[in-house]
Amino acid sequence: MTKIRIALVVVLLWSMVLTSFASAQTQRAWTNAPGIERKVEALLKQMTLEEKIGQLNQYSYGTPTGPGTGRSKVEESIQRGELGSFLNVVDPALSNRLQRIAMEQSRLKIPLIFGLDVIHGYRTTFPVPLALSATWDANLVERVSRIAAEEATSSGIRWTFSPMVDIARDPRWGRIVEGAGEDPYLGSIMARAYVRGYQGTSLNDPRSLAACAKHYVAYGAAEAGRDYNTVDMSERQLREVYLQPFHAAVDEGVATLMASFNTINGMPASANAFTLTQVLRGEWGFRGFVVSDWGSVGELIPHGIANDLSTAARKGFLAGVDMDMESNAYFQHLAAFVKSGQVPPSALDEAVRRILRVKFALGLFDRPYVDEKNAVTTLPAANVAAARAAAEKSFVLLKNDSGVLPLQKGVRSVALIGPMADSAPDMLGAWSARGDAKDVVTLKAALEARSKRDGFQLHYAKGTEIRSTSDAGFAEAAAAAAQADVVLLALGEDASWMTGEAASRAFIDLPGNQQQLLERVAAAGKPTALVLFSGRPLALTSAAARVQAIIEAWSPGVQAGPALERVLFGEAAPSGRLTVTFPRSLGQVPIYHSVLNTGRPPVGLDLTRPPTNGNEKFKSRYVDEQNVPLYPFGFGLTYTTFDYSATQVDAQQVSVDQLNAGRAQVRITAEVKNTGTRAGEEVVQLYIGLRGTSVARPIRQLKGFRRVTLEPGKSQRVEFTIGRDELSIWQRDTKYAVEPAELTIWIAPNAQSGTPATVMLK
Ligand code: NOJ
Repeated sequence: MTKIRIALVVVLLWSMVLTSFASAQTQRAWTNAPGIERKVEALLKQMTLEEKIGQLNQYSYGTPTGPGTGRSKVEESIQRGELGSFLNVVDPALSNRLQRIAMEQSRLKIPLIFGLDVIHGYRTTFPVPLALSATWDANLVERVSRIAAEEATSSGIRWTFSPMVDIARDPRWGRIVEGAGEDPYLGSIMARAYVRGYQGTSLNDPRSLAACAKHYVAYGAAEAGRDYNTVDMSERQLREVYLQPFHAAVDEGVATLMASFNTINGMPASANAFTLTQVLRGEWGFRGFVVSDWGSVGELIPHGIANDLSTAARKGFLAGVDMDMESNAYFQHLAAFVKSGQVPPSALDEAVRRILRVKFALGLFDRPYVDEKNAVTTLPAANVAAARAAAEKSFVLLKNDSGVLPLQKGVRSVALIGPMADSAPDMLGAWSARGDAKDVVTLKAALEARSKRDGFQLHYAKGTEIRSTSDAGFAEAAAAAAQADVVLLALGEDASWMTGEAASRAFIDLPGNQQQLLERVAAAGKPTALVLFSGRPLALTSAAARVQAIIEAWSPGVQAGPALERVLFGEAAPSGRLTVTFPRSLGQVPIYHSVLNTGRPPVGLDLTRPPTNGNEKFKSRYVDEQNVPLYPFGFGLTYTTFDYSATQVDAQQVSVDQLNAGRAQVRITAEVKNTGTRAGEEVVQLYIGLRGTSVARPIRQLKGFRRVTLEPGKSQRVEFTIGRDELSIWQRDTKYAVEPAELTIWIAPNAQSGTPATVMLK
């Protein structure tokens, strides 16, 4: 009996290994499938120079998502084979009409590929990506992207310009909302999850979207957080941080990448042969295609490396940008360069090959049309439920003094105050594809329904507008607070104006006069919880000083109200954790957890007060602010509490040679205990630090995490193993290696706590 059981377990484990191996394999199968390669070559042989260049040309149709206008007189261009792709076509009937021209009237009948920014849902809008990353739940992200893929493909879209995998460490940058935050380890895990969700087990499934990892690369490091701005960084920083999530996406089989707007060390990313060709194709073996960003080939002119559009076309193309989004540069100028020999025909063939490969892999030649009857036009109930679950998991409880939250079931009156309480469009967040504000259930709507059910009084007052200076509504807000047992303040950012592309902020406080509103309301002296809707970390120091609780709700999507209501009343507990550091003040920015040490760390000094002598002053510190953030990376409270034992390791010393050979690992454990009175979920995090290495290393780097659910009073020993991948340091060129070092390891609830253990790597 026991033998049979053991045999069954072995078979089961083995089949699990095979399944995960198989799914990773199927993910990448399209990249080198002999059947596809043969078809690509056969088609390529028949193509004229103009038809080849046509495949590299992409126009926006209808509502543009960048400067300039969307085109509409495109029929003849399609007939002549001058266009390979559209973005922003969202009507299935229109997509079929355009596709029919390509399939019936163009000489070679090469299908168009329709792309769109499906960033966090299509019809069903989910929380913004920064919020999704705060779930620390890759399975959830995969499910959400799969739903987005199923809805988007029903309208004829087979390509999404997502995921944005840019590491972002500056909250001034509006696009920090579109990514997974500041950390390359977490960012890589999320990058893979998005790719798996969009692309499914096969690109050839009509419900799969080709994914696009963007913006390649280092766009998130824009100087001063100003969008499109310059980036200058070491190759180490580029490789160890900013390239990491892209590499993960490529490894997961991502079909496309988008080249970014910024320069990298003086060379625009959209003309950067080092990143686009040497690293991406040479080192990583990427076989999909690269699309420019909106007009980024044309922008080589203002960048100053081209004086005209033809030079821009040549430089962008030769560096490795295969498809030209909206610059019309390749279409107008590449043919002349090929004829004059300045662009080798083989380079053109290779770019066309990459695009056709993806079109064949998607099955577009066999199934070019979409079934218009099946287009998802209303929100499927199951997707709405998934949107609520995702939102619930993404909220981060930042402060909760004297257990203000969850609200008591028997509460008699609640004041709901603030411009975000009933602002449906702001719940959708930046880039909400086909999201419709009419589908949103706001916090006000959810609480109204609940107040009727539970029989409590709800006193609502808007108080102010999001970006207003008028205090006309303050008195009404103060009166609402005065009447209530507890106050919920719904404050935050205007999602479409202040978050996303071209939405950088030089101030990261609550916008308009919301801080003054908060102070006026807090003066009523009632227990007050701030429900914050933002697409970035805000500087919350003065807000936090006046309210008892803060819950970061981001832009939660269509189910904002129901998700928040359940968490506020304790039917669900907040279990999100920060994936970006929240500064105490703007002057600390950029601030992130995995910093190097300095030669003058202010160890042991009290930085909450100014220095009083030279010993205190000549350190790496501010004279007027602390060094630590308000809320560190990884931080988040919940309705119970957890205790961590000291970190333990299974060896005092490990051989560097064995580690490098992949034959040794370090096993680390800690006991995590639920010390509160209700069940709860914890995100247990693993950090490492290396000292004595050939180059300076970050004091702490995230190298693992696990969600753990524990009943009250229960504890669990949480185990991690790390080896070559986690411990390697970039040496040069393509080489990574483990070096002799003192390794410090923390198993901790965030980047700023934990009792470490050390191991010598010898
Ligand atoms: C510009 C944005 O930078 C990019 O993220 C987006 O995918 C394109 N426009 C297309 O809308």
